[in-house]
Amino acid sequence: MDKLLIQGGQSLSGSVKISGAKNSVLPMLCASVMPTTGVVQLENVPHLQDVTTTTRLLTQMGVSVTMDEFMNISLDPSAIDNFYAPYDLVKTMRSSILVLGPLLSRFGEAKVSLPGGCAIGLRPVDMHLKALKKMGAEIKVERGYITARSKRLVGANITFEKKTVTGTENIIMAASLAKGLTKISNAANEPEISDLCLFLNKMGAKISGYGTDMIEIDGVDALKGTKHKPLPDRIEAGTFMIAAAITRGDVEINNIVPKHSYAVIEKLIEAGAEITSTDNSIRVKMRQRPKAVDIETNAYPYFPTDMQAQMTALNSVAKGDSYVRENIFENRFMHVQELERMGALIKVDDNTATISGTKKLLAAPVMATDLRASASLILAGLAAEGTTEIARVYHIDRGYDCIEEKLQLIGARISRKPM
Ligand code: EPZ
Repeated sequence: MDKLLIQGGQSLSGSVKISGAKNSVLPMLCASVMPTTGVVQLENVPHLQDVTTTTRLLTQMGVSVTMDEFMNISLDPSAIDNFYAPYDLVKTMRSSILVLGPLLSRFGEAKVSLPGGCAIGLRPVDMHLKALKKMGAEIKVERGYITARSKRLVGANITFEKKTVTGTENIIMAASLAKGLTKISNAANEPEISDLCLFLNKMGAKISGYGTDMIEIDGVDALKGTKHKPLPDRIEAGTFMIAAAITRGDVEINNIVPKHSYAVIEKLIEAGAEITSTDNSIRVKMRQRPKAVDIETNAYPYFPTDMQAQMTALNSVAKGDSYVRENIFENRFMHVQELERMGALIKVDDNTATISGTKKLLAAPVMATDLRASASLILAGLAAEGTTEIARVYHIDRGYDCIEEKLQLIGARISRKPM
């Protein structure tokens, strides 16, 4: 297991190019089992462990996957010979649950390991299963596996009690080949869901209303292959915006959709950053110590939970006190005790972290616990005095494409050391 070493205190400057969105690519990879003719081609796919895991999952089902040196992936489902997602793969990546809807709608059967919880919470999938049952699927959950069968799914009116991103995505994919109309009320409307719907409509699906919380899917009899370039990753973009702010740097972040990051941009302006943007880039300049800002996470378009840990790191060195309230996951403060090891002054009570900004953090050996927590430790290391060592960086490799190379290009003194 590798470690990251970061010598802090360097203001970052220059420009960085953002990769394709992990949370767009993962459902699209799973949807590649659905076409009856043609193949799915995805361009600008990020080089991530979660992408590798998903392609391994698909390959062992019989999907033939080819990838070129530019990370363009082609997936041909014509030789699929099983509909099984085994525990040893699913346990390393919860989003494997996204094969359930596609397999059930295309083949009428699926056996998918329950994802199980992870560092940030129990992560149940009850809403996914309840909705699929309403569409006529027979679902059994036993011995850690979901076994699902259905002659042909039937369109239904689905209302999610809570907004669920992958739940909405699973039902959109299941409904695309169902018989009749499916209406999803209280649908999640993250940009990655709209991107998935655009992709599925290019395959011949009939989906409308995406981007709102009422999505309609008129089931069709067959889908065909298509080519698609997924959205840029707004969470990677937000992470680099905070890297610029926490190091009092001046960084241009390219290949993004600024409007997908408005909630984060608004908070950085409140913290004192100077932000200018074009239609596909944002420049973040922070001339002085950031001001503390209060954060409440919520579903899109509000402040994203996937940026909470990174903002907690910024508030740790900000001027003044702040609170960060996590409204989506029940245990998403694992980064706090690691930040405290670096001198951060944070108190967690239930789902709220109260932070007293300190002038500086001090480098320390710390441990990554989950994907976004590891991003917050990198940000803290960039600002800290001394050299921070971050263990278990396999967490960061799940969701960030070549992060140390990108940071080095804008002046960070960061390197990877095999343990
Ligand atoms: C997606 O996870 C993202 N993952 C997460 O990103 C992101 O943090 C999350 O959405 C929220 O935006 C992918 O897109 C692959 P949810 P998901 O279902 O779909 C509860 C990252 O860092 N819930 O929207 O699993 C759930 O426990 C990852 O890139 C149920 O109770 O999240 C949570 O409290 C981390 N029952 C809330 O809903 C269900 O059946 C929202 O979860 C489903 C969810």
